[in-house]
Amino acid sequence: SLPFPVYTRQEVARHHNKASRVWVTYGSDVFDVTDFVEQHPGGKSKILLAAGGALEPFWALYAMHNQEHVLELLRGYKVGEL
Ligand code: HEM
Repeated sequence: SLPFPVYTRQEVARHHNKASRVWVTYGSDVFDVTDFVEQHPGGKSKILLAAGGALEPFWALYAMHNQEHVLELLRGYKVGEL
């Protein structure tokens, strides 16, 4: 399979709302979660707090994300790597 494209954190930060697409990072992976925003069980406003940046500071506070089914869902939205 083809390698994922590589992005900088600066590039990721440009994708901070639905108009510019909602990108987040987790570890060194980059995800476009735009199509998940409306489905987020914790609500749209919360997921958008992480838009354009890293999930870790938020997921440290909301530990229910630290489950295999959540990580698997996230994996489906991967678009690149840092
Ligand atoms: C719940 C995914 C970002 C706050 C959940 C659940 C999923 C999910 C699958 C349900 C988990 C379960 O009950 O088993 C995601 C994904 C995110 C993301 C894929 C980013 C791409 C965030 C952020 C915050 C947040 C940044 C907070 C700032 C919450 C809260 C709940 C929740 C509070 C609990 C909702 C409830 O049960 O009432 N999220 N989340 N999430 N999320 Fe997120």
